[in-house]
Amino acid sequence: MTDKNRVLIFDTTLRDGEQSPGATMTHEEKLEIAQMLDEMGVDVIEAGFPIASEGDFAAVTEIAKRAQNSVICGLARAQFPDIDRCWEAVKHARQPRIHTFIGTSPLHRAIPNLDMDQMAERIQQTVTHARNLCDNVQWSPMDATRTEHDYLCRVVEIAIKAGATTINIPDTVGYTAPRESAALIAMLLERVPGADEIVFATHCHNDLGMATANSLAAVEAGARQIECTINGLGERAGNTALEEVVMALKVRHDIMPYTTGIDTTKIMGLSRRVAQASGFVVQPNKAIVGKNAFLHESGIHQDGVLKNVETFEIMRPADIGLNEANIAMGKHSGRAALRAKLRDLGYEVGDNQLKDVFVRFKALADRKKEIYDDDLVALMQDSAANTEHDYLQVKHLRVVCGSDGQSADLTMSVGGEDKTVHATGDGPVDACFNAVKAIWPHDARLQLYQVHAVTEGTDAQATVSVRMEEEGRIATGQAADTDTILASVKAYVGALNRLKVRREMVGEGADAKQVSMYSH
Ligand code: KIV
Ligand code: ZN
Repeated sequence: MTDKNRVLIFDTTLRDGEQSPGATMTHEEKLEIAQMLDEMGVDVIEAGFPIASEGDFAAVTEIAKRAQNSVICGLARAQFPDIDRCWEAVKHARQPRIHTFIGTSPLHRAIPNLDMDQMAERIQQTVTHARNLCDNVQWSPMDATRTEHDYLCRVVEIAIKAGATTINIPDTVGYTAPRESAALIAMLLERVPGADEIVFATHCHNDLGMATANSLAAVEAGARQIECTINGLGERAGNTALEEVVMALKVRHDIMPYTTGIDTTKIMGLSRRVAQASGFVVQPNKAIVGKNAFLHESGIHQDGVLKNVETFEIMRPADIGLNEANIAMGKHSGRAALRAKLRDLGYEVGDNQLKDVFVRFKALADRKKEIYDDDLVALMQDSAANTEHDYLQVKHLRVVCGSDGQSADLTMSVGGEDKTVHATGDGPVDACFNAVKAIWPHDARLQLYQVHAVTEGTDAQATVSVRMEEEGRIATGQAADTDTILASVKAYVGALNRLKVRREMVGEGADAKQVSMYSH
């Protein structure tokens, strides 16, 4: 890297993001997101934790084989079998990287019960082992921001001498603050011999809402890799959001003269895809990608924006790939127009998928006068989440509701066989969910049920998200329809399908959440 102000973007949506309870993605979803990240210009994609499960191993391997531009990285604990497994997966990439880590703070050292010297020796051995396999090695002292400074300098020096080419400084529990984040990087650059020959990375969690500020402060102090996720997905309060750091560096280039290789017009498409695949809906007021981020509702703001957009807009919607709110399509629009519109919205559809989406689009256009961009996004999300290949499928629903009581007549296909029941409940949604339960008995608990109107008007589509929990496993479901109750049932059934898949995967050891982050 020749430009000293070029900041590498390391995306860990598929590893740290997916580690978030309930955010599990399917193999196909991971491949698709990785391809989008690769095309967007992400420098490094952390594709998974290969030792964690067969599923993670398969995804990292396939992503490594397909990537065209990005470095493909896998995570490994400080153990030879982990590192070997990681290499087996990433070695297929044009540019592979092994990322190995160990918790170095007093709290984390206590768990594998290693004293400072024993841990230092482990770091030396494992980084050397990784470097013997791969010439691009990243090492992380987990919980670095709560590690004693002298010890942190000592272990970083050991890792550099053993061959690490990137040293990542994680704020694992989102504890640091901007000034301290900068001082830590500056201290390492000043005190550690060889520090100027490697790249320092910053990896911040958002527990105190400071992840973006902490990452940018680290860059100002000399870090040249930011680790982040789309939509800030990640455990607890999440990780640094890619869209926030990238747009902050772009919009405030005057005071932060650093560049990235990201094509920012692809941000919105990725944000939607990750929200759909993970089931984590983006909050409306989320910076950059929230539904309200470019909305000007108040009279004063609208007036100002109409006279001069710069009065209340510091960036343009088009910068992140967001089209102005417009009527996208009508009932008479053809397939070619639909395909072109979907491409604009960030969806590349093949012929077969287009056929299916077109049928759904026509059905929607029959029910709804005007089809907006957001309607098409909801339709795409729905068609990705609920397919004709699903084990459980909603075939027919009739709901009676009103002051005299609520009941549902539901026909569902279960593994290809249609079953019909009649159920009652405390409200129409409860009656429908009871009907699903009568057809497909389960112990899963409904943790979250959310309804959002996609656009304005009483004929608007509703997107429904549900999160369900069964024996510690979490799965989400999403669906969209102008009929809110039907969307609710489809989302509920979608989550049950995902739970079923996850139950079966656990039998094959594919549940990544079962793996401890400690090296013993
Ligand atoms: O937050 C963290 O410390 C991590 C490490 C595994 C790098 O994600
Ligand atoms: Zn992390």
